[in-house]
Amino acid sequence: MNIYSRITGTGSYLPPNRLTNQDLVDQLAAKGIETSDEWIVERTGISARHFASPEVSSSDLAFEACIRALKSAGRAVSDVDLIIVATSTPDMVFPSTATILQHKLTQAALAEGAEHGAAGCPAFDVQAVCSGFIYALTVADAMVRAGSAHCALVVGAEVFSRILDFNDRTTCVLFGDGAGAVVLEATRHEGHGSGILATDIHADGKHREILCTPGTVVGGQVMGDPTLKMDGPAVFKLAVGLLDSAARAVLEKSGVSLEELDWLVPHQANIRIMQSTAKKLKLGPDRVVVTVHEHGNTSAASIPLALDHAVHNGQIQEGQIVLLEGVGGGFTWGAVLLRM
Ligand SMILES: CC(C)(COP(=O)(O)OP(=O)(O)OC[C@H]1O[C@@H](n2cnc3c(N)ncnc32)[C@H](O)[C@@H]1OP(=O)(O)O)[C@@H](O)C(=O)NCCC(=O)NCCS
Repeated sequence: MNIYSRITGTGSYLPPNRLTNQDLVDQLAAKGIETSDEWIVERTGISARHFASPEVSSSDLAFEACIRALKSAGRAVSDVDLIIVATSTPDMVFPSTATILQHKLTQAALAEGAEHGAAGCPAFDVQAVCSGFIYALTVADAMVRAGSAHCALVVGAEVFSRILDFNDRTTCVLFGDGAGAVVLEATRHEGHGSGILATDIHADGKHREILCTPGTVVGGQVMGDPTLKMDGPAVFKLAVGLLDSAARAVLEKSGVSLEELDWLVPHQANIRIMQSTAKKLKLGPDRVVVTVHEHGNTSAASIPLALDHAVHNGQIQEGQIVLLEGVGGGFTWGAVLLRM
């Protein structure tokens, strides 16, 4: 018998403040910046996004998503023995958002009368920007298969609204805030027919400057520009090829054919990138999960948000084969193939 990892629950959370394109167009117009609902929809597929209020941090969004994921898995906070948070918008420079989340989950469990929370289990962040969730799931899968974790919370959580330059219309219309989480558990069985079937992650730092937030903190002051910078057309061109290679790599590693694939859950950055990737793989739109119109690009949160959405609206069913894939700053990219 071998140990494999399997997603047993999903959850997500969006902050309540929803901004339509028109809301954003009006706010930008007040600053003399011109954009339109038509331009945003046509170039990106985005119609709305959610922004967290100033006092809400990534760990708050992550907390809500985790509570929902644990409920859907039928697990308690005290069952959790590993927490990995993928984020590029952490609550603090340190400690990690994962440790802050761990404490919030523990406090909530104790307040509800539990004897234990999740205190003591390993908790750490992964920083791979929009590929963060794919990286985090890959690490969690390896730890579960190695026997060092049995019930992991793997989370993507972002407040990208904090790092947007609202004077730059080429980027500020693209991103949103949110969180998604999965419970990943160990299962033992012969062969390898269920759970995570294959993972594939990569990075190439030579592309670090086409998508970055170059500021840092020095002597208590922000040094450099702490807002997101992107060469959109260069990112677009690179993303399609990298997503295609990651998707093909996990299919090849697992021996699953494209015909056997039920669902593609791509990183939700731009509908045209998703359509180009699906076309290269010869997948019809009925096999691609799309939430970008409602969420915008929520970076590391986008894949678990889309996955949870598709599970809870009945698109993705137990036993189906699902390909998750992401690409992001660094550049980083990767894919995870799994049977739900
Ligand atoms: C950003 C992106 C939507 C821009 O679309 P595009 O078709 O490449 O558009 P361009 O950047 O070539 O700009 C075309 C024109 O639209 C203008 N424009 C840019 N943003 C605009 C906006 N919000 N509203 C109106 N016009 C805008 C540009 O100034 C340019 O005008 P010009 O031709 O007069 O110079 C697209 O490049 C993209 O989605 N890239 C990938 C982004 C991404 O997914 N990033 C995350 C990866 S993890």
